[in-house]
Amino acid sequence: MKLKNEFPIFQHNKELIYLDNAATTQKPQKVVDAVVDFYTKHNANIHRGVYAFGEQATQFYEDARATVAQHLNAQPDEIVFVKNATEGINLVAYSWAMEHITTGDEILLTEYEHHANLLPWQRVAHKVGAIIRFLPVNDNGTLAYDQLNTLVNKHTKLVACSALSNVTGAKTDLVKIINSAHSVGAKVLVDAAQLMAHAKIDVHNLDVDFLVFSGHKVFGPTGIGVLFIKKALQKEMVPYQLGGGTVFEVDWQDATYLDSPQKFEAGTPPIAQAIGLAAALKWLQQQDIQAIAQHEATLIKTVIEGLEQLPHIKLLGPIDELKKSGHLVSFVVDDIHAHDVAAYLSNHNIAVRAGHHCAQPLAKKWHVDASVRVSLACYNIKDDVLNFLKIMQKIKKL
Ligand SMILES: Cc1ncc(COP(=O)(O)O)c(C=O)c1O
Repeated sequence: MKLKNEFPIFQHNKELIYLDNAATTQKPQKVVDAVVDFYTKHNANIHRGVYAFGEQATQFYEDARATVAQHLNAQPDEIVFVKNATEGINLVAYSWAMEHITTGDEILLTEYEHHANLLPWQRVAHKVGAIIRFLPVNDNGTLAYDQLNTLVNKHTKLVACSALSNVTGAKTDLVKIINSAHSVGAKVLVDAAQLMAHAKIDVHNLDVDFLVFSGHKVFGPTGIGVLFIKKALQKEMVPYQLGGGTVFEVDWQDATYLDSPQKFEAGTPPIAQAIGLAAALKWLQQQDIQAIAQHEATLIKTVIEGLEQLPHIKLLGPIDELKKSGHLVSFVVDDIHAHDVAAYLSNHNIAVRAGHHCAQPLAKKWHVDASVRVSLACYNIKDDVLNFLKIMQKIKKL
């Protein structure tokens, strides 16, 4: 309850039971204040004005970059601000993959990727004649790691995987994947969109090449995301978009570009959003992330055990693992469409997600066109999940 009080949305919506945190998280007052503070007291464009007021705004923006870098154990110039995780992946696809992946090369994904980490690679593969392979998802929602060393081979140039599935809640064994990819010289992109609000990631120790996440899924504002690019790879990447802020010198016919991160941040960036994201990460650093993970696991265990009592419900994903260390679970109800379940819950002020969760090929593989997803965050309390279970019991009676 203590944490919930720090999130103003719940004071303005006292009845709201918000269980759709994998879609977006709510914002603590400190994040709202940081954004309001910038607009009310410090607003100016950055990297342009030579006047002190503009330089101060530039300093705030660069401080935000330093905060993100410190949070990930990266260098500030390895942090590129983008719009969201989706844009970060597209940037790598256009700026690195289109230049370094060629006919016959292979890109390895997993079967539980979000469309954001599938469609850009389809575009690359179609354009250059590369092949996309998939690490299969087992029936229990985990990855078939036993197939990793066959699927990663001398043709593999990139392995791109989610750190945590937004459908099954399964955590990816990143060490296994990165070691396997690097053993053949392939690069690794980690989509950390679903992990950032629940665990700490150290890009340096993991030795990851690219990593993306969205600010809005980690208690920050919308309109801001992060792309980490390992320093050694920056020189071999071309700018993704061209325009102001990216260039060293421009002539009528040609231009020379600045180094990272400037060469990847064309135009006026999301300044207030970056400052809001830094406030969110600082807020998160003040929390006990392990205690939060334990709290979320206890609540999701209650959800799972409650649903297991109800007949005609099929839970998706690695249930035993989720009970121990998860925070989201998806399920289907026999004979009731997921959208109807979500609509009924909505009538009782309970927000859950229903659909294919932007992972349509996996939904097709499992012949589950739509499922209901309950996803928790640090501010959820026991009453939230007990109320959810109470309404689920009513649905079954209906
Ligand atoms: C695993 C995963 N990757 C990427 C995304 C895309 O995030 P965004 O829409 O913020 O770019 C999502 C969104 O739900 C996600 O769950």
